[in-house]
Amino acid sequence: MSIKTPIDWALLHQQAEQVCNKAYAPYSHFKVGAALQSADDQVFVGCNVENASYGLTVCAERNCIAAAVAQGVQDIKALVVFTPQTELTTPCGACRQVIAEFMDPNAIIGLVNHLGNTKRWQVKDLLPAAFTPKALSASSQTTEPHSH
Ligand code: THU
Repeated sequence: MSIKTPIDWALLHQQAEQVCNKAYAPYSHFKVGAALQSADDQVFVGCNVENASYGLTVCAERNCIAAAVAQGVQDIKALVVFTPQTELTTPCGACRQVIAEFMDPNAIIGLVNHLGNTKRWQVKDLLPAAFTPKALSASSQTTEPHSH
């Protein structure tokens, strides 16, 4: 029997807020911090990193997930996004796709700002009908290479 440990939302909030200060956002001035808790209860953080070649910017959420993957962590049970914005920031479309790769559809994304306002979303509501690795494994079972 596996015992599920709780999600430490306060810690994730604090870590996301802290790493937000490290964001490199000289172009947009829109700083974002993200913190995640893995299935084995490690915490990883990431911030947005912009570039003079604007399109190369990588969001906080994807940098956070990449930091976890680089340490061998691929199972994420919760992720918090912090921005010092009155309106809570939801992950962009690209990040939603990457989130869907590593998080269960029922897992929770928490949004928080400097005022302490929070909102929680389930992954499946942020990206309904997601294209996930499951689709690829289903296809490799049912299709064969063409032979002419
Ligand atoms: N950004 C994030 O890091 N995460 C989001 O959820 C939304 C957008 C970044 C990208 C860019 O550096 C800045 O915010 C403005 O779009």
